[in-house]
Amino acid sequence: MKAIPWFVLVSYICLASLHYGLAEGAIHYYDFVLKETNFTRLCSTKSMLTVNDSFPGPEIHVQKGDTVFVNVHNQGKYGVTIHWHGVKQPRNPWSDGPENVTQCPIPAGTNFTQEINFSSEEGTLWWHAHSDWSRATVHGAIIIYPKNGTTYPYTEPYEEETIVLASWYKADVMEVITDALTTGADPNVSDAFTINGEPGDLYDCSNETTYRLAVEYGKTYLLRVINAILNEETFFGIAEHNLTLVGTDGAYVRPATVDYIVIAPGQTMDVLVTANQAPSYYYIAGSPFADSIAPFDNTTTTAIFEYKGNYTPPSTIPFPVLPLYNDSDAAATFTNKIRALNSAEHPVNVPKNITRQIYMTVSTNTLPCPNNSCSGNSNGDRLSASLNNISFDTPSISILQAYYWNLSKDVYTTDFPEKPPTFFDFTGNVDNITLYTNPGTKVIMLDFNETVEIVFQGTNLSAAENHPMHLHGFSFYLVGKNKGNFDNATDPLKYNLIDPPEVNTIGLPKNGWAAIRFYADNPGVWFMHCHLERHASWGMDTVLIVKNGGTEATSIRPPPSYMPPCSKS
Ligand code: C2O
Ligand code: CU
Repeated sequence: MKAIPWFVLVSYICLASLHYGLAEGAIHYYDFVLKETNFTRLCSTKSMLTVNDSFPGPEIHVQKGDTVFVNVHNQGKYGVTIHWHGVKQPRNPWSDGPENVTQCPIPAGTNFTQEINFSSEEGTLWWHAHSDWSRATVHGAIIIYPKNGTTYPYTEPYEEETIVLASWYKADVMEVITDALTTGADPNVSDAFTINGEPGDLYDCSNETTYRLAVEYGKTYLLRVINAILNEETFFGIAEHNLTLVGTDGAYVRPATVDYIVIAPGQTMDVLVTANQAPSYYYIAGSPFADSIAPFDNTTTTAIFEYKGNYTPPSTIPFPVLPLYNDSDAAATFTNKIRALNSAEHPVNVPKNITRQIYMTVSTNTLPCPNNSCSGNSNGDRLSASLNNISFDTPSISILQAYYWNLSKDVYTTDFPEKPPTFFDFTGNVDNITLYTNPGTKVIMLDFNETVEIVFQGTNLSAAENHPMHLHGFSFYLVGKNKGNFDNATDPLKYNLIDPPEVNTIGLPKNGWAAIRFYADNPGVWFMHCHLERHASWGMDTVLIVKNGGTEATSIRPPPSYMPPCSKS
């Protein structure tokens, strides 16, 4: 435990006295020290950016409704930001974190205190860096316990364990993405996946440190599974043990017992597992779900589910049966089982009368390269991606600051199209459709409390695949999804408006559609993007700005006294 510098203590006292009266829950303080640390995996050592020297990073523990102040000390080499994935941050976009959307990067050698406001979230969420690909090594769990006097809506587990899935590159991850953006090619795939920082027995030089989960026969464990992987969704299971899904993305679900889960980057899933098999060792495994023609890491990370007690260890450890990497149907079979808990304590509140319907294509594309300088692709183009054929150009200063201080014209425009600019058979033969898209920094403006439906439409352009679409500032209800083109006349009739899951990230099926609904009741500037990092880097992003509602309680809070500086503002 390191000593806390005096300036940290002083800022604690000041912030506590300033804010104590506002929050209803408890207040917690954390220090995140970002710095380069050496790590060795797969017989290869590299320096990488981590928080408090740990990979995965430190956990944040709160109860529902609490407030957390995290003082982020950037002792690394470059500017970064931190995002609290799935925390709605009511009225407080200032601490949300996406780089140049709600703040400029925290310059190396400085610090920034972020205020994380918990409201309705309960279960598991996570935090991660939100600058380029730095989230590969800068991430950790957020555990939100029920308030005092309330309990889990399921039998209290004997113990809880966090399971963080991540990507491992032997190379410097920031170089991987910088090189890819320079050549216009697909970024190199990772060398391994990890469970709690360890690749597991199937990789070189890894079996001495494989993550082991020691369990007591007959007891039930809660696993809080977080997918922090950069570019692949994941099938996850434990040999010969069922999993019972009880929560996802910080909300409870109707318990569903399954052999495996499918979890996308950005998602969290709480599962119960009972140690009710013959005491032995069993593999826990995570393998990719990647239903695209694009390159992906086709390796499998493992950990060991190890019963305590005296027995002869097995000569071969049983392995879970997981679907094949491109089995979209196996993925849909699982996700179709997820329903909101919809109980008296945890009711659903789906908007019924929609005032704003947005239909949005989600595509991978190409863009011309300045003077055909891209060596990575045959025709000199670079890979790109878009929403409604707009490829998001990240501005060089923060959109939130531009919006709040009325500098908008230079930074973004408010004309993001609310339907695809051209209609074609999105999921069919697209041979005659250009792969080129249009770069721009276009946002969607919403009035306070509008009832919003967004229908994401996957397209067959370039490399179609499942896209984990994520929205900041909200959780939303997934009211419908299917393969093929969305039909605005017939598909809404089949929506689930009774018990749709409340989530912050959904797997948009390959060449399919997904419909989400929410109340635009959180004024602010909120990023929306595919959580596959290469797609986000290529422009599969946009921003929703929810305007103020006219009263203090429905307006963005004033900015904190210090925000990291933007060079242009
Ligand atoms: Cu997990 Cu924009 O974030
Ligand atoms: Cu994507």
